[in-house]
Amino acid sequence: MTNELIDPFGRSIRYLRLSVTDRCDLRCQYCIPKGFKKFEHRESWLTFEEIERIIRAFSELGVHRVRMTGGEPLLRKGLPELAAGLAALPDLDDLSLSTNATQLEKHAAALKQAGVHRINVSLDSLNADVFSSITQGGKLDKVLAGLQAARNCDLAPIKINMVVMRGINDHEVDSMLQYCMENEFTLRFIETMPIGDTGRNAGRHFVSLDTIRIRLTKQFDMVPSTMPGGGPARYMQVGGTDMKIGFITPMSQHFCKSCNRVRLSVDGRLHLCLGQNDNVSLREPLRQGISDKDLKELLLEAIAKKPERHEFRKNPLKINRVMSLTGG
Ligand code: 5AD
Ligand code: SF4
Repeated sequence: MTNELIDPFGRSIRYLRLSVTDRCDLRCQYCIPKGFKKFEHRESWLTFEEIERIIRAFSELGVHRVRMTGGEPLLRKGLPELAAGLAALPDLDDLSLSTNATQLEKHAAALKQAGVHRINVSLDSLNADVFSSITQGGKLDKVLAGLQAARNCDLAPIKINMVVMRGINDHEVDSMLQYCMENEFTLRFIETMPIGDTGRNAGRHFVSLDTIRIRLTKQFDMVPSTMPGGGPARYMQVGGTDMKIGFITPMSQHFCKSCNRVRLSVDGRLHLCLGQNDNVSLREPLRQGISDKDLKELLLEAIAKKPERHEFRKNPLKINRVMSLTGG
């Protein structure tokens, strides 16, 4: 048995995104539909032991980085315990978290202590009304307090993810940049993706990030840059400062060629591509007592099914999952 996860397109899989819950306390317009009820039931959630087993197997096959995500991962009770268990795995180098930060204020210290290295925070607006409208009721001050708590605990770097939408928050690009500069956060702009009806609807407000990049390049001295663990974002640094800005452009410039990741959803499915439906369920084999060796074999077989790329443009109706199942 080979010990590396190489997909049919020669890409080496080294990164796993782990959705620990599909639930969220917000309802971002582009993500979970209002009134959505089809969340996974507790019986189908992977337990912490099951998650740890899968991640251990992955880590022994070369996956050295894991990001916990959701839904909102802090809604899963005991998340710092799971984090501590994962951080203790000898072959895992980097454990991170994506959160909406509404509950980060009370959990930041425990997460840091558990071994979470860095966090990404979804934040689309610094205006309380706009924030409430995008998230359908979210409280901006909670998020800002969560961010300050994370900063005080040295969870670094902190990256802010802003989904840019025309006529909704695109006028806030400059103020977000200012805020991130003042707080030493990295800012990443994201294009809306047609994931589920909500994602497709948000596409009415689609902004090609090129337009923002070009505008900022005129305004600032922008130098191409990189960021460790930067994933698919292309980075620019604002000359004379430490500020980095990332552009995540799944639509205008896809980055599938360098994809190094797969996603594990809370119900134990391994999703092989965010923009395809291919998945392999690991839950039943685990619950039927699969051996470690066979589990690794199953992971290798799954990776052999990784699709080449998403088809968000060619086939925008393809993905009907809710984004929070596979994680942002
Ligand atoms: N398009 C782009 N990004 C999305 N996210 C969720 N839904 C979408 C979508 N339709 C991302 C956002 C958010 C994270 C949790 O998931 O970046 O910050
Ligand atoms: Fe929740 Fe993130 Fe989806 Fe917003 S984008 S509803 S914060 S999971």
